[in-house]
Amino acid sequence: MEVNLLRYMKFLRDFNFKDKKVLIRVDFNVPLGDDLKVDNSEDWRIEATLPSIKYLLDQGAKIILLAHLGRPNGKIVEGLRLDPVAKRLGELLGRKVIKLDDCCSQKVKDRVSQIKVGEIILLENLRFYPEEKNNDRQFAKQLASYGEIYVNDAFGVDHRAHASLVGIPKYLPSCAGLLLEKEITALTKVLDKPERPLVVIIGGVKISTKIKVIKKFLKKADNVLLGGALANTVLAAKGIAIGQSVVEEGMIEEVKKLELTDIKLHLPVDAITSTDPLGKSDIRIAPIGNTNKEEMILDIGPDTNNLFRQIISQSKAIIWNGPMGLIEVDKFVEGTKKIAQVIANNDSYSVIGGGDSIALIEEMGLFDKMSHVSTGGGAMLKFLAGDKLPGIEALG
Ligand code: ADP
Ligand code: 3PG
Ligand code: MG
Repeated sequence: MEVNLLRYMKFLRDFNFKDKKVLIRVDFNVPLGDDLKVDNSEDWRIEATLPSIKYLLDQGAKIILLAHLGRPNGKIVEGLRLDPVAKRLGELLGRKVIKLDDCCSQKVKDRVSQIKVGEIILLENLRFYPEEKNNDRQFAKQLASYGEIYVNDAFGVDHRAHASLVGIPKYLPSCAGLLLEKEITALTKVLDKPERPLVVIIGGVKISTKIKVIKKFLKKADNVLLGGALANTVLAAKGIAIGQSVVEEGMIEEVKKLELTDIKLHLPVDAITSTDPLGKSDIRIAPIGNTNKEEMILDIGPDTNNLFRQIISQSKAIIWNGPMGLIEVDKFVEGTKKIAQVIANNDSYSVIGGGDSIALIEEMGLFDKMSHVSTGGGAMLKFLAGDKLPGIEALG
């Protein structure tokens, strides 16, 4: 299916954008600080859309951007307005971004209809409207009426069947932007024809959101490494004591159905444990199975790190999603940092996804050492699991 995607889709090069009003759906869902600003280390999702925006400016287009922020549940939430995002985009582009305060008023309609070549307008957070999530036909039609061509450059949210993603293409000629094209190309490469050995490293918290990918790659990959709280649920499913560790109880039965003795599957062999998740006391290295009742597993241990390092170093393709430990606490970030460093040092093809993992590699200055940093969290997992993404399907 994925290979065909690139065959049947249209791309920016297939259109003449001169003097055209172009609606671009982007994923600017970035964390805002307490000061409601976009931190420079958190703006990679905005940066990733610059190639398409610059290309369209060069082509003489009039640009109208559509985006969401957070989950305001169909209501106006002042702290989720897109002004900080517009400001950061303006800084990155070195030109003015005109931010409007809603999506559907007469004022918006008038301003958008008068847009000039070279102008960039960003509409307000689409999710202030329940119609966005409900994939409301009238809402999509209204948004579509602002433009002449629709570009989807919002890979990170393409797993949602929302109006701006699946509704608008029904009314306008549509294509994938440069970011979406790059995402599909990179992910298809590791999915369909990876160099071998292929290793898949999965961490984070919820095995429920990642089990499909784990199952898929237990069949496809040469090695699957599990860490983070997610590995606790697998250890619990194997009957191993995990003390007070974070676990997804409701998933234990489901996890038992996995091929848990598969030699491709590698679980932590030791851990950094403590009774205190803030890391202030009782920190020790404990072999797996040796966790006390009061303790939590908070990072992978040195033996696990060595084991994982060896496997990663011998791999020619790497997929990584989710931290190996409680990375918000300095004492428990080391395991994940070491894994990030090993991936960065390896010249194999590496694909990294997941907000928390990417924030860490950005902080470590390793962003450019990875072959592809995906702007998708949930979207990347769904794509790799082989699911169809509604936003992408709608372009066919
Ligand atoms: P990503 O955003 O990279 O996909 P997730 O959102 O799935 O990753 O998971 C990230 C979270 O997992 C982080 O907040 C991290 O603290 C947490 N985490 C990982 N391992 C543990 C652990 N052993 N105990 C508690 N939390 C953990
Ligand atoms: C993301 O941040 O993963 C995307 O923007 C989708 O956001 P959502 O999970 O709130 O739909
Ligand atoms: Mg996350």
